[in-house]
Parts: sequence; C-alpha cells; structure tokens
Amino acid sequence: MATRNAVGLDIGTSSIKMAHIKETSKGPQLLAFDTIMLPPDTIKDGVILNAPVLVKRLQELFTQNKVRERRVAISLSGHSVIIKKIALPEMSAAELDEQIQWEAEQYIPFDIKDVNVDYEIINPRAGQGQMDVLLVAAKKAVIQELVDVVRAAKLDPVVVDVDSFAIYNSFELNFAVPKEEAVALINVGASTCNINVVADGATSFTRDITVGGNLLTDEIAKQFAVPWEEAEHMKTTSETTLSMSGVLREVQRISLRVSETLVNEIQRSLDFFAATAMNSDINAIYLCGGAALQAGLIEGIERRLGVTVRALNPFANVIVDPKKFDAQLMQRMAPVSAVAMGLALRRMGDR
Ligand SMILES: Nc1ncnc2c1ncn2[C@@H]1O[C@H](COP(=O)(O)OP(=O)(O)OP(=O)(O)O)[C@@H](O)[C@H]1O
Ligand SMILES: [Mg+2]
Repeated sequence: MATRNAVGLDIGTSSIKMAHIKETSKGPQLLAFDTIMLPPDTIKDGVILNAPVLVKRLQELFTQNKVRERRVAISLSGHSVIIKKIALPEMSAAELDEQIQWEAEQYIPFDIKDVNVDYEIINPRAGQGQMDVLLVAAKKAVIQELVDVVRAAKLDPVVVDVDSFAIYNSFELNFAVPKEEAVALINVGASTCNINVVADGATSFTRDITVGGNLLTDEIAKQFAVPWEEAEHMKTTSETTLSMSGVLREVQRISLRVSETLVNEIQRSLDFFAATAMNSDINAIYLCGGAALQAGLIEGIERRLGVTVRALNPFANVIVDPKKFDAQLMQRMAPVSAVAMGLALRRMGDR
C-alpha cells in the first residue's frame, strides 16, 4: 500500500537515523526503523567533511532495510538556521507571503540573498490586531550541500525541516501539548543541543547550542590519553573488564563534571527565554538525544532548574509490531529517534 509519508532521515554527527511511518485508522504505524553509525569526522560542526562516506552509509541503510520509498524528509540545525518569533499586524497568508522577505531582512543577521526564508503563523489572534509568526531562515549553501549528498544516494529530499521543529512534531504525536503551561523539549546530540520551548500550545522559543556528547568523549580521550574512538567506547560501554579496573568509575566522575557544563549552557538558554517571555515558568522538561543518557545530566538539570525531567519517547503512541521490531532494541533506540520520527510524520508537499 502506498503511503504519503516521506521517510524521516536524521543525519546526525554520530549516526544516521531512518524512520518510515504509515498512517492507519488506529494511528501511525512503524514500517521501518534503523540507525547506522558514521565514522568520526564525517560531519564536523554541521559541515559535511566526507560526502562519499555519507552517501555510502545512506545507501546501505536503505538497501539493508529494503526501504523502497525514495522520498525523504531531512533536517538542519545549528548555526546555519535562525528561528525568531516576531509579532506582525494581522494579515492574510497571501499578504504575509509578499511581506515576509522584507520582514526577514530586519530580523535575520545573514545576507538575505544567502538564505531561504520560511514562516509559520503560530498565533493568528495574539490580540490587538497582532499575530505571532515564527520566522525561519536557513543558509542556502548548507541546504544545498545536504541535498546534494542525499541525491547522490539516489534519494529525493521532498521536505527540509529543522531539528527543533521535528522534535516538536514527535512530542505532539506522543504527548498532550499543554495549553496553559510551558514545557521545554531538549535534544542533546553529539555536537548540538536543540531546545524548543513550547508555550500556549505552540513553539515559542528555539535555540541550538553547539555542545553535546562529544564534549565528554573529548574529555575522556584527554584524561586517559586514548584515541577518540576508544574514548567513545569507554563512555558507552558497561564492559566488566573496564568496570573491574575502576576505569568506569573514573569515566563516571568525568561525566558528572562535563554534565555540569551542559547544564550551565542549557540553563543560560532557558534564562534567555525567561527574560523575553511573559509567562516564563517552565513546568517540565522532555529530554531526548543520545547524550541524555550521560551520567549526571538528568539529575543535574532537575537539581539546577528545579523542574521534572521526562523522557521524550517518540514511539509511545506509535504502533510497533513486535514480530518485526525487537522490543529491547527499540527501547534502546528511543532516545536518539525523536528527530527521525518527527521527520517521518511529514507528508509530501509540506512546507
Ligand atoms: N549510554 C550513553 N552514555 C553516554 N553517552 C551516550 C550514550 N549513548 C549515546 N551517547 C552519546 O550520544 C551522542 C549521540 O547522540 P545522537 O545520536 O542524538 O547525536 P547525533 O544526532 O548523531 O548528533 P548531532 O545531533 O549533535 O549532530 C554521542 O555523543 C554518544 O556518545
Ligand atoms: Mg541529532
């Protein structure tokens, strides 16, 4: 049966995640899901350094999972994207279409010729003849680079989204979006941390900070004077030989310290939101991303911000056939899958 959903493709610094969903009368059903690791330095600070490797892994991912759908939804994050909430006089979508480029010029710190501009009306009746609009600008060169790689893998990128919006879509699918209170969605990846504060039932503030799990890998590599790959292994393993030797205890100690740095950065961003918002109390935090598993992070956020941290499980409301998908594996994959699942919800022809 044909589905109208594109395949969600989250091309991260440490791995690619692929998710394919079919809408059924009982809700969204998972058709395919997999992840594939990328060698270090394939992507660095959001820049593709090794396109051939990326193309090869993309092809492997689709062949191994026998996914025939070629239309994909991809996403951007980090410095190449700017998202701003602006208040505009109430107007029709057609009027806004004409005006958006001009508005963007005043709010976006890039040369307008170098960016693609898009928008979403999030609050059509903010009051007093005003409406709230999310303005999104992404660097054309960065989009092109990603699109070229995806096309080279014989895939057709029909949607280009933004990580923090994809997380919102995952959240919306699996949890009730609170109408009154504010919650923060936080995705802590390998090199970037996406924050999306949801208030009044919509995205109100987003920020990407360029810190993540790599901070801890770098620190372990330095402290133990080991190659980066070994440090990465040390932090994600529970091997008994390592735990017997006390190495894991030391890794844990370093992790607690590095997590404090991450908490500082997250707190700074949320403080910035609080300074600009009217109703700035954040009632809960939904955490995802591989580095959310890092020792000390959840506890650190809860302690510092005094807010309950919940896991943003992107499969909570999704039909996952236990005959096709290993339950334990899916549970393990849940933290890193929020962006891919959010992208998999996108339809052809979506903005
Ligand atoms: N059990 C674990 N303990 C600590 N860190 C972990 C664990 N599992 C994964 N990580 C870390 O999570 C990170 C990968 O997470 P994720 O897949 O969300 O990032 P990414 O999407 O590849 O990167 P980015 O979004 O920053 O480009 C890596 O830094 C990895 O070391
Ligand atoms: Mg990521």
